[in-house]
Amino acid sequence: MITASEGTATDDALLEIDDLRVHFVTSRGVVQAVDGVSYTVKPGEIVAVVGESGCGKSVTALSVMRLLAKPAGRVVSGRVMFQGRDLLTLSDEEMREIRGRDIAMIFQEPMTSLNPVLTIGLQIMEPLTIHLGMSDAAARARAVELLGLVGITDGERRLDQYPHQFSGGMRQRVMIAIGLACNPKRGGALRRPHQRHVRRAHRRAGHGGRRVRAAAASLHDRPAALRATP
Ligand SMILES: Nc1ncnc2c1ncn2[C@@H]1O[C@H](COP(=O)(O)OP(=O)(O)OP(=O)(O)O)[C@@H](O)[C@H]1O
Ligand SMILES: [Mg+2]
Repeated sequence: MITASEGTATDDALLEIDDLRVHFVTSRGVVQAVDGVSYTVKPGEIVAVVGESGCGKSVTALSVMRLLAKPAGRVVSGRVMFQGRDLLTLSDEEMREIRGRDIAMIFQEPMTSLNPVLTIGLQIMEPLTIHLGMSDAAARARAVELLGLVGITDGERRLDQYPHQFSGGMRQRVMIAIGLACNPKRGGALRRPHQRHVRRAHRRAGHGGRRVRAAAASLHDRPAALRATP
């Protein structure tokens, strides 16, 4: 997860997950995917969540985003406090406003997250026009800038290409650019090779005046987490 804030950094947690429990009801019984997870992310902090495959890192992040597979996935207890509000109690409408604008998740599988029939440009511009109300021209200019931030040059030409014309690493960077698009306060799960790109993008985004202030990343192993955190 990536966390950022425009506000003044304080010691107060930006995100506080408290005793989260998530179950999936399946035909073969109940899967206790997350069993009492608690962690906090302060403004300016990068938090790496480490654990073996299947231990619940992604499900925790999906719960924060309120994107659990329905109806099987259920938060059975816990709180997810974000800027003083429990996200688990918000209406779908309130949550839609927060998602994409304040909280972003960079998913593990860029090919399933990007739409294969839409250009990269349209997919980066969508949150900018919808959430930030930018004109198409302004959104396009910002999209070129965002591609630059994640290390993709020749943005003008790249925006008109489709996901299959990008390498796997470039597609992941596009997902990061989309995650950064609305200057989010929090973002999503990452696999190890990409954490480096996010960190660099965050640094560059900081220099660009649109600063990502905190992050939490899900990682599979401890050495990767140590390398990923500055
Ligand atoms: N839709 C679902 N239905 C049933 N069980 C699920 C569902 N989604 C996830 N799970 C289960 O929840 C558990 C946690 O999965 P999760 O995706 O959070 O793992 P993870 O820690 O992110 O693993 P990885 O490091 O491989 O990405 C796993 O046992 C998984 O099988
Ligand atoms: Mg995962």
